Amino acid sequence: MVRKSVMAKPSPLFLIFFLHLVLVSSSSTSTDTRSEHSRNHVALFIFGDSFFDAGNNNYINTTTLDQANFWPYGETYFEFPTGRFSDGRLISDFIAEYAKLPLIPPFLQPGNYQYYHGVNFASAGAGALVETFQGAVIDLKTQLKYYKKVQTWLRSKLGKVEAEITLSKAVYLFSIGTNDYMSIFVTNSTVLNSYSKSEYVGIVIGNLTTIVKDIYKRGGRKFGFINLLPFGCAPGIRIVKAENNGSCLEEASSLVKLHNKALSKLLRKLEKQLKGFKYSLYNFNINLRQRMNHPSKYGFKEGKGACCGSGQFRGVFSCGGKRLGKEFQLCKNPNEYVFWDSYHLTQRVYKQLADQMWNGARKPNSVWPYNLRDLFQAF
Ligand SMILES: *[C@@H]1O[C@H](CO)[C@@H](O)[C@H](O)[C@H]1NC(C)=O
Ligand SMILES: *[C@@H]1O[C@H](CO)[C@@H](O)[C@H](O)[C@H]1NC(C)=O
Ligand SMILES: *[C@@H]1O[C@H](CO)[C@@H](O)[C@H](O)[C@H]1NC(C)=O
Ligand SMILES: *[C@@H]1O[C@H](CO)[C@@H](O)[C@H](O)[C@H]1NC(C)=O
Repeated sequence: MVRKSVMAKPSPLFLIFFLHLVLVSSSSTSTDTRSEHSRNHVALFIFGDSFFDAGNNNYINTTTLDQANFWPYGETYFEFPTGRFSDGRLISDFIAEYAKLPLIPPFLQPGNYQYYHGVNFASAGAGALVETFQGAVIDLKTQLKYYKKVQTWLRSKLGKVEAEITLSKAVYLFSIGTNDYMSIFVTNSTVLNSYSKSEYVGIVIGNLTTIVKDIYKRGGRKFGFINLLPFGCAPGIRIVKAENNGSCLEEASSLVKLHNKALSKLLRKLEKQLKGFKYSLYNFNINLRQRMNHPSKYGFKEGKGACCGSGQFRGVFSCGGKRLGKEFQLCKNPNEYVFWDSYHLTQRVYKQLADQMWNGARKPNSVWPYNLRDLFQAF
């Protein structure tokens, strides 16, 4: 009844007034669209290595060792290879989804991409140090240089004030460091003859600090990190020393431990030093280790060996047949595996970990002091 009376025939005068309102409000929303971008969306800027690279390395002069743009990469979700080192989506893809953002594309992907939602600078093989796999990757300093270009672009589109709002509300997500240590074992590097382990960790953390402080200085406030996985137990590292008989590489594990301790310490320090600095540190290490050691508890069948590769544990990095030899084995069901290839994880693990990063309990063994949902929604 009420509805009927509301729908009663409007007077012509009312109609004119109404039409006027519609026109005025639609024209004002169209001029406000750009500021809507910065008010309603929290952008996501992604930095780091293969755990987050969505395909930047497809566009650089590198080797297939640092590329994943061939079958069977991507087979589970995308049905074509995108350059992601997995059978499907990565942690950063799930985070974008949970934040109600579109899939964040790689910075180097050609096309007229608009950066309002953020962009992905990560590059497989990259480390915090310029020397890490130099010439084959986009190192973290160069990723920062690209970020500065995006910042300039946003200023030109949004104006200085709106761009500043966008950049201070944005989340800056990092996965970096693994390759600075991994490179020691896969390239016969002699760096540990010149530095003690803790000195070397200090140099890696020092370079990461420089980058984070630079982004802060340019207006970034909300930072998300994952610490280092126990890569000494990755299938590809278990086999680097034949005399180890397939056990985890202790030397790698001790570097990871030192790094992860230094990373927590650094973030606590920055929180005290830098006004408004907020962070979320995900304990990738512990949570992945639990899945490697107790796969069945998390719905997996295999926690040690990879789905794709060759040799013992499928630790030989030959997945796809375009790297170390043409031969490789591929499991039937990647969902049963923690490791997708010799060094990287399956989409199923990435999703479990991303879920925890997004809204896990705020504890040092999980995600600390904030989860990513807090960074996106609470501040
Ligand atoms: C790409 O790398 C190859 C092999 O290292 C080198 O010969 C070539 O000059 C490089 N091209 C560019 C454009 O850097
Ligand atoms: C590392 O050194 C060993 C022994 O000198 C050699 O057999 C191996 O091929 C080297 N590996 C690389 C990646 O250079
Ligand atoms: C950054 O790394 C370089 C080596 O690439 C090193 O010489 C330098 O001391 C590091 N910087 C900091 C602040 O640790
Ligand atoms: C590896 O296995 C061999 C033969 O079984 C054994 O002699 C050796 O001690 C083992 N090495 C390690 C590091 O476990």
